[in-house]
Amino acid sequence: MPKPTPIETPTNVLIIGPGGREHALGWKLKQSSKVKKVFFAPGNGGTAQIGQNVPLNCDTVSTKLVDEINYFCRDHKVGMIVIGPEDPLAGGLADRLAKPGRHVFGPTKDGARLEADKAYAKDLMRACRIPTADAKTFKNHEQAVAYVENRETPVVVKASGLAKGKGAIVTKNTEEALDALRRCMVDKEFGEAGETVVVEERLVGQEVSILALVDGRNIFVLDPSQDHKQQGEGDTGPNTGGMGVYCPTPLIDDKMMATIEREVLVPTVDALRRDGIDFKGVLYAGLMLTAGGPKVLEYNTRFGDPETQTLMMRMKGDLYDVLAACCEGRLDEADLTFTNTTCVCVCMCSGGYPGPYEKGKTITGIEVAEEDQDVKVFHAGTKLEKNGDLVTAGGRVLNVCAFGKTLKEARDKANAACDKINFDGAFFRRDIGFRVM
Ligand code: AMP
Ligand code: GLY
Repeated sequence: MPKPTPIETPTNVLIIGPGGREHALGWKLKQSSKVKKVFFAPGNGGTAQIGQNVPLNCDTVSTKLVDEINYFCRDHKVGMIVIGPEDPLAGGLADRLAKPGRHVFGPTKDGARLEADKAYAKDLMRACRIPTADAKTFKNHEQAVAYVENRETPVVVKASGLAKGKGAIVTKNTEEALDALRRCMVDKEFGEAGETVVVEERLVGQEVSILALVDGRNIFVLDPSQDHKQQGEGDTGPNTGGMGVYCPTPLIDDKMMATIEREVLVPTVDALRRDGIDFKGVLYAGLMLTAGGPKVLEYNTRFGDPETQTLMMRMKGDLYDVLAACCEGRLDEADLTFTNTTCVCVCMCSGGYPGPYEKGKTITGIEVAEEDQDVKVFHAGTKLEKNGDLVTAGGRVLNVCAFGKTLKEARDKANAACDKINFDGAFFRRDIGFRVM
């Protein structure tokens, strides 16, 4: 593959995706002297305030979408495209947008398969002896049932394909496991994504998110963070897209990070390279810290949401330079460090989330919350109405981030900021970081 050449700067950037991750990336990119204007497709109410939203739904990759993005980039002199979410990556959007004179940040379809096909990811881990939960893959419901009935220990049933983060069902006993298999394979609750199912051993321990930039060859590991997937305080209630994150997490010290890099990240990138995959983007390993060491729960092939919000808050230096270095295969030259503060991100959600919820509720108080210099509010699911009103437009509405010298200080500030913000039905978890406090 020819080495991509640098793009003439300053240039315009297009960020694909609708949420808080994209708002945070755009906010950081806008601070670069190399970036003139940031466009978001489709963006949200927050991104509309720092750049320009382009009304394109990028979840499903089609020739029409690719043409529309290409025309837009030509007309608006876009030199870099950053793809946020997994669906367009898995659909091959990065492959189809690749062109000389333009950087596309995000892996190609064969790289994104690591996230979009859990059965494939398991095979890769097994082949490279990467520590992960024991698992077996099934396409046939009866065989999966027989396997589960013969197991003594609890399992996790996972739809192999992309299921908006909801395809992993953690079960306590055989009855629940059989019910999960029925939901995936008989009721087809996750559609095609659940036609193949991975049944794996249920691990216990603390979960951490390890995100690394990869330029095809070099790996740059970002500070570790801990997400909170469950809706309720004390990790109770249903799984969500993530209720809050703090970064860095003291659960990972330098020695543990070196182990993770050596046992997980390096062999993964090596395996991709052996398969001829030039992975450029973020490799995100969701790990369980078990008594037997860190084990991979899943790979994602994109920036985590809301992990990225805390990383962008703490990142020093120029994000454009870092992403360009990644696209140009010279990540070893990138200047990337983080502040020594802790950042907490609390997700303010719509009442009912992750179940059904109402939209269109007026949001107030963001400016008041941001009067504290250590607070920044990213928008996850909001919409700016024509009259200038900001209203809710999703389950996770706002990502309220705050710095602190300690985790407790950061959390207190983030919670205090949330208390200043109002919309009908709003709720959030006040206990982000409780597992290490
Ligand atoms: P995944 O989509 O694979 O990341 O799974 C979503 C969530 O399910 C994870 O964040 C964990 O909380 C939980 N989970 C996944 N795999 C396992 C496992 N093998 N053991 C225990 N919990 C798991
Ligand atoms: N924070 C979890 C994810 O991005 O998948």
